[in-house]
Amino acid sequence: MAQIVTILNFKGGVGKTTVSVELSTALARFYDKKILLVDLDPQASATFYVMEQEHWAHWKSTNGSTSDLFEQRLHFSLSKAIVHDVIKGNAPVFGFDLLPSNPDLVDVDLRLADFVGYTVLQRYFEQISAEYDYIICDCPPNFNPVTKNALWASDAYVIPTIPDFLSTYGIGLLQRSVQKLFAPIKHSKLFTGPLLGGILLTRVKATNLHKHYCNLVRQDYPGEVFNQMISDSITVAAAIEDRTPISALNPAKGHAQDLQYQFQIMAGEFINRIQQLQAQKLAESHPQ
Ligand SMILES: Nc1ncnc2c1ncn2[C@@H]1O[C@H](COP(=O)(O)OP(=O)(O)OP(=O)(O)O)[C@@H](O)[C@H]1O
Ligand SMILES: [Mg+2]
Repeated sequence: MAQIVTILNFKGGVGKTTVSVELSTALARFYDKKILLVDLDPQASATFYVMEQEHWAHWKSTNGSTSDLFEQRLHFSLSKAIVHDVIKGNAPVFGFDLLPSNPDLVDVDLRLADFVGYTVLQRYFEQISAEYDYIICDCPPNFNPVTKNALWASDAYVIPTIPDFLSTYGIGLLQRSVQKLFAPIKHSKLFTGPLLGGILLTRVKATNLHKHYCNLVRQDYPGEVFNQMISDSITVAAAIEDRTPISALNPAKGHAQDLQYQFQIMAGEFINRIQQLQAQKLAESHPQ
């Protein structure tokens, strides 16, 4: 059964999509994991990180995308909508599948605002969970019904944040929002909602200000922060331009090599963190 993990921050531009795509690529390439990345943002940034626009345009109209899933159209088939080995054309990475997004997802949100159930995604994931090690959900920068669907389906959530005031300020609010969402089922033995899989410092610059906020976050959330940080690097923009994640480059050179190494180490830490949460959940559901 797959471990389902939501990449979450209500703040925009903190690196959620970059982390989702690079983590998925690194898990597939360096750790032989089978990954499904689910693009839940109408901006479709994760989709365009790895898919050419023409390929995507054809795919969404013939095979479907996340907006069709939420519309729950009768003809929607999840297995048909998944793009298998989405980046193998650009680089030899296997085991990374994508469920692409579509700007129409924004209408789904507006129209279904309070009516969409939070279990739509969970029910679809049950169909394919056995095929994957991890299902990673890249969310929009808000707490809309689509984001809530992702959380409802998830075992854990990871918070990427830039080490600055505005980006880190929301971490507490975000945790409280997740707790509130699951408050009605808090005492259920079967399911208590997703656990915090970790806070990941991203776009880190070698400035005193960033150093200060990195220390502050580690102090405020002891044990919850990934040891590995992700540096701010222009190679990210180049990767998106080429539709080839940094974690897929072979060989990676210069700054890209440094960043690829960071993503690789972070992905290894991710595996360990999620494993620990799994063990913790198991122990809680079967107390001695
Ligand atoms: N490590 C990095 N170094 C330099 N630039 C980065 C890095 N990570 C992300 N970026 C850039 O920052 C911008 C925002 O990144 P990204 O799209 O991953 O953030 P996001 O949190 O998903 O944004 P949104 O909230 O809009 O979905 C992009 O232009 C991306 O190329
Ligand atoms: Mg994004």
